[in-house]
Amino acid sequence: MCGIMGYIGDENAADIIISGLEELEYRGYDSAGLAVGNGTEVKTAKVVGSPSGLRKETEGISGHIGIGHTRWATHGAPTVTNAHPHISGSGLFTVVHNGIIENYAELKAELEEQGFEFKSDTDTEVIAQMLEHLYNGDLKGTVSAALSRFKGSYALGIMCRDYPDCIVCAKLSSPLFAGVSRGCVYLASDVSAIAGKGDRIFRVNDGEIGILKKDGLKIFDLDGCRIRKSEIKIKAFDRNSDKGGYKHYMLKEITEQPAAVRRTLSEFINESGRIKFKGLHLTKQEIQDLDQIIFVACGSAYHVGTVGAYACEKLCKKHARAVIASEFRYMHPYLDEKTLVVIISQSGETADTLAAMRIAEKKGAKIIGIVNVENSTIAQECKNVIMTRAGKEVAVATTKAYSAQLAVVYALAIRLAEISGTLSRRETAEYVAELKAVPDKIEILLSDIEKYKSFADIADSSGYICFIGRGFDYCAAMEASLKLKEISYIPCEAYAAGELKHGTISLIDRNSLTVALCCQEELKQKTESNVNEVRARNGKTITVSSSDGDIVIPKTLDIFTPSLEVIPLQLLAYYTALKRGCPIDKPRNLAKSVTVE
Ligand code: AGP
Repeated sequence: MCGIMGYIGDENAADIIISGLEELEYRGYDSAGLAVGNGTEVKTAKVVGSPSGLRKETEGISGHIGIGHTRWATHGAPTVTNAHPHISGSGLFTVVHNGIIENYAELKAELEEQGFEFKSDTDTEVIAQMLEHLYNGDLKGTVSAALSRFKGSYALGIMCRDYPDCIVCAKLSSPLFAGVSRGCVYLASDVSAIAGKGDRIFRVNDGEIGILKKDGLKIFDLDGCRIRKSEIKIKAFDRNSDKGGYKHYMLKEITEQPAAVRRTLSEFINESGRIKFKGLHLTKQEIQDLDQIIFVACGSAYHVGTVGAYACEKLCKKHARAVIASEFRYMHPYLDEKTLVVIISQSGETADTLAAMRIAEKKGAKIIGIVNVENSTIAQECKNVIMTRAGKEVAVATTKAYSAQLAVVYALAIRLAEISGTLSRRETAEYVAELKAVPDKIEILLSDIEKYKSFADIADSSGYICFIGRGFDYCAAMEASLKLKEISYIPCEAYAAGELKHGTISLIDRNSLTVALCCQEELKQKTESNVNEVRARNGKTITVSSSDGDIVIPKTLDIFTPSLEVIPLQLLAYYTALKRGCPIDKPRNLAKSVTVE
């Protein structure tokens, strides 16, 4: 997704902004640009590709105030013309924008009738022109009037030629933060870009307008009334991270998984082994009265939801399912106050997941949010929040956050079952004891990561790859397939093992690879017979099991198997992508947080 950076201070604004945009590169981009003011004029520079390309373009541009942007194209191809900032006709306003103005076409036509001419295909240029159209000399009032015309989502950084010493910011749905230090201020769409810079960090909320000046930040509501803000606290492991000597953030984050899971478990498993979620405010009666549990998320977080659904059905004896958020929001889901909707999101900003949460809330469901980013929109809006403590995750392909989310959904299923009376104290204690052992078992799998390289050679030489499994193994197969395809670009899919013979087996030949997850004792033999069906048709196979597979994982309870079997398959994806020379931390077309529909 797009990234925004702003700065006012004594340093060269271009340098500060470019390094901030480089911090945001992991969110995904295809072009970048910035604008710098020197008190009399505003100069801009734009590039297609990495924000680092702006260094050359900004040689000779000096000034102490500026805004910058990395663009992930939604309206219009990734070109210099469509890159932000966008400037109004007379040059009065310069704007960077995250989000989508859904009624931009109608506003564009209105402005064209007023004689405004447009250079780009973007919705953002409409913002700059609308500001100019409504400008009456009062900057705050003009911004407020313009915001009332926009439908959709936005995080904005705005410079006005008549106000050369300030940056105006505003947001609706898309995240925006301001940092204040002695003699300088920062603006960013992701707190990580300023966590190490601003002494005090503030979150800009929907319906607020911020005025940033060298001496600080003032926040107003849309009527122009001043609002007093309290700063937000950033935890050490959420601050900027570096690669720590690893070739890629993804490999570093794969190896950080034991610590991420331990930190997360320690948030809600106390010394006596009892599970207690601080951020869960549902009464025991409300939990006992639940008649369905729905996990809602996107991508890998959805795969965690499938594990949660299987675990809840098995342990809580309640109807449970996982639904993809972009489907959930349009399927007219049947929900009521006896429904628990569990929202899962690493970034806490995924547009489809956020929209699904708001729909569930409107329908009266009980809602729990499982989020990794403390000050994200979902974490702020959700009444029951369980934080994962994976720390800042930079690689677009999630690993440690996925594993931390798994730890939460296991514990949630156990806790809900304990309260619902479907697990005895002894059974609960056994599950908790085994859950606490999961990080140690992940550590065993990470003790010799090089041994998974050979499997990458098989994957790299295969034309079609299918990951199969039953039950919890199938949940892990979905995640393994996404990991491989998103970073190596090899077409692959996950399939319920029992489904293979209902059509897909026609794809099996000597050029295909089937990775079979057979880690649940009670289902192992059934999936092994599917492996034999594949081998009988000359298909290559890799088996994963807790006893005798090509890849062996430590034994654990069935519900916890996804946490273990996913580790070698994350490494399979990593080494395959490495062999193919793919940009592992920032795969093409992908963004770390998808804040648009
Ligand atoms: C996973 O590797 C992908 N990067 C993607 O599927 C991701 O899980 C999905 O976009 C959901 O993101 P979220 O957890 O931040 O909501």
